[in-house]
Amino acid sequence: MARPVSGARVTGWGSYAPSLVLTNADLERMVETNDEWIVSRTGIRERRIAGPDETTGSMAAVAGLRAIATAGLAPDDIDLIIVGTLTPDYPMPSTAALVKAAIGNKHAAAMDLAAACSGFVYGYATANAFVASGMAKHVLVIGAETLSRVTDFSDRGTCILFGDGAGAIVLSASDEPGGTMGIELTTEPAGAYYIWLPAGGAARPASDVTLATHEHYMKMKGAETFRMAVRTLGSTSLASVRSAGLQLSDIDLVVPHQANVRIIEGLAKSLDFPMERIFVNVGCYGNTSAASVPLALAEAVATGRVKQGDRLLLVAFGAGVTSGAITLQWTADPAAGERAAGIGPSDVTIRPGYLEPVNPFPAALEWLRSDAGTAPAAE
Ligand code: UT7
Repeated sequence: MARPVSGARVTGWGSYAPSLVLTNADLERMVETNDEWIVSRTGIRERRIAGPDETTGSMAAVAGLRAIATAGLAPDDIDLIIVGTLTPDYPMPSTAALVKAAIGNKHAAAMDLAAACSGFVYGYATANAFVASGMAKHVLVIGAETLSRVTDFSDRGTCILFGDGAGAIVLSASDEPGGTMGIELTTEPAGAYYIWLPAGGAARPASDVTLATHEHYMKMKGAETFRMAVRTLGSTSLASVRSAGLQLSDIDLVVPHQANVRIIEGLAKSLDFPMERIFVNVGCYGNTSAASVPLALAEAVATGRVKQGDRLLLVAFGAGVTSGAITLQWTADPAAGERAAGIGPSDVTIRPGYLEPVNPFPAALEWLRSDAGTAPAAE
């Protein structure tokens, strides 16, 4: 076993968003809603939808390979793969195990992490502990989701919010200054059923009844979730920054979970923190759950919003109600992102199972794949 090190730092980052785009205008034709309502209540204009050949595992593998390339590493340098997701390809095997094979890694341990939208931040904290204890030198932490496969496209309260995608980092051992500075994780089960996917587990196994009652889709108490989110994002952020020995004013950029621009504005207001120093890309991707923080982080780095030496705060909340925040000093050269150029879906293959393949694409969005690309009007 390697000797314990004092710190861990982000050395690689990457993301992947599928190419199909579902706009508010499309949703207007599917459910009773309108662009003005969606934009004013959420800030979301469009979201990405995984194609029929894509899964959480395949998108995670692309984002992961990109992060490994950015770090200047080879897949086999990774000692541990963590995939935060609420939409694994299967309950078992883990999506992380499938990702391991897809990226061509031979020796890493691999596991999924269930903390809903906080999955990536919880994964970062777990990876940090592995690195700090000396159990791993390089950990690949991925947040990836195919929420379109668990979204009820007849429920206007949820279908306007969610999208698909993946983001990843490599967290590496380091004795140099910088890297992870403070971590805070919380879970408040009082709100456990605010966001809920009822069917398919041990309490409500999938059956004809659960199928008929749409229990295999996400349910959400929107207003309760909203209030809890603003409160918990604020308290978790403050605790993380304080544990780093910093003040909020020391933070150069906050990268929050991209659930709803009004939640992010509520966070800014409650912390008295300027919106200009909060990264927002929810307008283009919607809420991608565990993928949202690493997807936003990769975009923030690629667009010049992050410089070496900057202090960042990554903060998320999700079903559970889980919340997590990481305060870190960014040390990597943003230009290293160019090393991932050219890596795409054709570079990864998820090993198929032995059953006959099915088309996993949501039937309600089948029209999106056709060249005509026009949503049928709602009945
Ligand atoms: O990762 C965490 C995941 N979840 C979240 O982050 C969700 C947090 N919650 C929210 O973002 C917001 O609560 C929503 C965007 C979901 C809803 O916004 P809201 O301002 O809380 O609206 P509301 O639920 O209070 O609904 C207001 C009205 C209702 O109509 P009535 O009862 O006032 O007649 C809804 O039926 O808006 C109606 N409504 C819609 N109208 C047009 C709900 N969804 C829609 C829609 N289009 N898509």
